[in-house]
Amino acid sequence: MRGPQKAKVVEKSFIGEDVFILKLLQPFIAEECRPGQFVNVRCSPLYEPLLRRPLSIFDVDREKGEFSLLIRIVGKGTKLLSQHKEGDELDLLGPLGSAFPYNQYKNPLLIAGGIGIAPLYFLAKTVDHPTIIFGAKNKKELYTLEELREFATVLVFTEDGSEGEKGMATSKLHRLILKHDSVFACGPLGMLREVVRIAKEAEVPSFISLEERMACGFGACLGCAVKTIKGYKMLCKDGPVMRGEEVML
Ligand SMILES: Cc1cc2nc3c(=O)[nH]c(=O)nc-3n(C[C@H](O)[C@H](O)[C@H](O)COP(=O)(O)OP(=O)(O)OC[C@H]3O[C@@H](n4cnc5c(N)ncnc54)[C@H](O)[C@@H]3O)c2cc1C
Ligand code: FES
Repeated sequence: MRGPQKAKVVEKSFIGEDVFILKLLQPFIAEECRPGQFVNVRCSPLYEPLLRRPLSIFDVDREKGEFSLLIRIVGKGTKLLSQHKEGDELDLLGPLGSAFPYNQYKNPLLIAGGIGIAPLYFLAKTVDHPTIIFGAKNKKELYTLEELREFATVLVFTEDGSEGEKGMATSKLHRLILKHDSVFACGPLGMLREVVRIAKEAEVPSFISLEERMACGFGACLGCAVKTIKGYKMLCKDGPVMRGEEVML
């Protein structure tokens, strides 16, 4: 990892009431990053909030030296990020953490829940012939669905039935998983638990990206410990992508 780097805001676009895409010019990160990795971003030039905020790499254009973040506003840091304008500079660390081991499997099944689509969009663009299950509470929370459909087979589930099949992302997983040699997932904890349970039953390896709170982002503060069958691991360094069967969810 390099030290803090500057990234220029190339574009900001809201794609929902509280969700936006931030496109950044930062050739080193754009070149180096792999799906599943994240950047740790200072949200304001003032030291409030003090801690950086971790955000997954959502999309990359290596030729232009650009990458994008898909961000939901949930508090002070993400609100401040949403106020940046084209031409502003951000201070960030990255790329950080582990990536999905996509080159070790021939036929992975991808599963995203809501904003959990962020790292899986980049992953879906990277693997050959991707199939992705995309679940959300409702149609509005199926962020970037139309773009995703341009390059992936997308199986859609919404809790209220407003798009795709009515149900949870995991509703048909026990059947769908049988055609695949691995599962890569990101989404709410409940969804991840179910993904790991079903994958274990089917004896298919699962890899999940966890979105717990972090501080330093590179293994120095021990602020992101996650319990696994091999003892405590640092989510920022050993994760955020971890072997599903090993994490004690
Ligand atoms: C590796 C990683 C990748 C992430 N990728 C993305 C992404 O691509 N897009 C995105 O929108 N978000 C992502 N997140 C979550 C994002 O980091 C938090 O939403 C953000 O840090 C909140 O900062 P805030 O100052 O706006 O909110 P705060 O004021 O810090 O908190 C507001 C509320 O959000 C809750 N919250 C804060 N952080 C988290 C968290 N990590 N997980 C769950 N709840 C949290 C708090 O408990 C509180 O209720 C990621 C988190 C991790 C660890
Ligand atoms: S956030 Fe500091 S050790 Fe992980």
